[in-house]
Amino acid sequence: STGVCRSDDGALSVAGADLRAVAAEHGTPAYVVDEADLRARARSYAEAFAAAFAESEGLAGADVYYAGKAFLSLAVARWVHSEGLRIDTSTAGELAVALRAGVPGEHIGLHGNNKSDEELVTAIEHRVGRIVVDSLGEIERVAALAAERGVRAPVMVRVTTGVHAGGHDFIATAHEDQKFGLSLASGAARQAFEEILAAPSLNLIGVHSHIGSQILDLAGFEAAARSVLQLRAEIAEETGHLMPEVDLGGGYGIRYTGADDEPPSPAQIATGLATIVHAVCAELGTEIPRISVEPGRSIAGPAGLTLYRVGAVKPVALDGGGERLYVSVDGGMSDNIRPALYGAAYTAALANRTSAVEHVTARVVGKHCESGDIVVHDVALPADIGPGDLLAVPATGAYGRSMASQYNLVPRPPVLAVTEGQVRPIMRRETLEDLLALDLG
Ligand code: LLP
Repeated sequence: STGVCRSDDGALSVAGADLRAVAAEHGTPAYVVDEADLRARARSYAEAFAAAFAESEGLAGADVYYAGKAFLSLAVARWVHSEGLRIDTSTAGELAVALRAGVPGEHIGLHGNNKSDEELVTAIEHRVGRIVVDSLGEIERVAALAAERGVRAPVMVRVTTGVHAGGHDFIATAHEDQKFGLSLASGAARQAFEEILAAPSLNLIGVHSHIGSQILDLAGFEAAARSVLQLRAEIAEETGHLMPEVDLGGGYGIRYTGADDEPPSPAQIATGLATIVHAVCAELGTEIPRISVEPGRSIAGPAGLTLYRVGAVKPVALDGGGERLYVSVDGGMSDNIRPALYGAAYTAALANRTSAVEHVTARVVGKHCESGDIVVHDVALPADIGPGDLLAVPATGAYGRSMASQYNLVPRPPVLAVTEGQVRPIMRRETLEDLLALDLG
């Protein structure tokens, strides 16, 4: 995160809070989030999209939805909403947090490929701004639930454009053989639009495309935008209904290690998308829609790091000669599943001191009972690293706490917000009592 500094005596700090003091007061492992940094990222999306899609430029405006799946808590929901973002949810849990945080229903969207009745009813009763339907069966269900309540529910249709992009197969979502969306190629998407238009309790507001996640190149978004704008024009031709909105999803990548490419900035994303939307609508001779996007990772990810305490340290001989230093920390795959699940690369830095000794090839591993419990595959760390040292792993603010588990009955770490040097837990650490409280004996 931009607020990480090393002080003269060698310790790392986040937004003015010394990580040695943070660890001493709040324990480890802990997620540490720089509030100002997260807010600034949210604000720069809001500002960039407002500027690039300004109605004065002949465009129809834009909305930015923060994808709550990346990390949602009451504080985060309030931060991003107060910076001008709406909130994209995909479960009853995310909806409950957004609503409890005071975000008005009209500023909330609901996703999901298998929404429950409870989720749909909550969304309809709170008059959410959009329900993104993902299957033909869902259309009938939303129509019936809305009709029973005398409401006209605003819906979008999630389509799969066939654009393949994303950091890993598990997070690429717009190719044909996967569970999300309605396929353009198969005609299922067409049928969805017809069914929605025929249902008096549904208001067809737009078409949605999400092509994947951790994408660093804008070309895939541009191809998807072209495809859904064309579809929108065709639907208008066939039915006379020109959908007022187009959502281009989330998925903008971030830098995890020094080896990653520079990610696009919100301004580059917004201007790139505005250019293509403008050009394609001019070609098609259709009015420009209101655009929305749903970034999650690129807002929360870089603003957070995980702070661990080092325990066991063990040199292990490698087959080809040489050795690797295995540095165990007090968390692991329960607080960051991404290396095990996606082969995701991270880096780590000694946080409590600097060291003048040589650096050696190290692997940071967790405390779980699996050899795949790796936090950082390869990182150069000082040879004298030992028990009691602190390690900081940057860029864990998205899909860290939100995907955390209690594997091996390890309580989940707290989330500590730092604002101008002040540390405030926004989610507390789980305790063994919390774990036992669920066990009915
Ligand atoms: N909108 C929709 C419909 C999505 O499915 C997602 C992510 C987003 C927005 C936000 O994408 P973002 O801007 O955060 O990339 N757990 C994986 C990422 C899965 C993303 C799933 N959908 C990971 O840790 O990499």
